[in-house]
Amino acid sequence: MTDRELFRAAMEMTRRSYAPFSKFRVGAALLAKDGTVYTGCNVENSSFGGTICAERTAFVKAVSEGCREFEKIAITACPVPEEGAEEAFVEAWPCGICRQFMKEFCDDDFVIITGTGEETMRYMTMNEILPEGFRL
Ligand code: THU
Repeated sequence: MTDRELFRAAMEMTRRSYAPFSKFRVGAALLAKDGTVYTGCNVENSSFGGTICAERTAFVKAVSEGCREFEKIAITACPVPEEGAEEAFVEAWPCGICRQFMKEFCDDDFVIITGTGEETMRYMTMNEILPEGFRL
């Protein structure tokens, strides 16, 4: 699984997003150490606090299937375009809650990828996006 393939899997998931309130669609593709890819999208709710981000959807799917060891995650976002406008992907670094959630299962060298397209992928590590993170 190349980074480009992982990124494309995230892009595909962005289109499955349920985001009628924010119109901000996010997709994620999480690569486990055993090579399995777990995908996710954001799923919003009328009771806004019930919303779950794309990253956490992917992690919850993986962990609930018995997988707890991860290598990298690709995250993509594409706001619902205005009438007649083109679709345009934007960078989407994980929110604070997702950073903490990921920290629970990921080593410092776990890689986070986002970008506006396959040609413009950017990389950060777990330690870079959440230095001195909390763990019991
Ligand atoms: N969202 C994600 O899916 N991941 C993030 O890291 C940031 C935010 C979603 C939640 C909500 O559905 C929408 O983006 C706007 O905040």
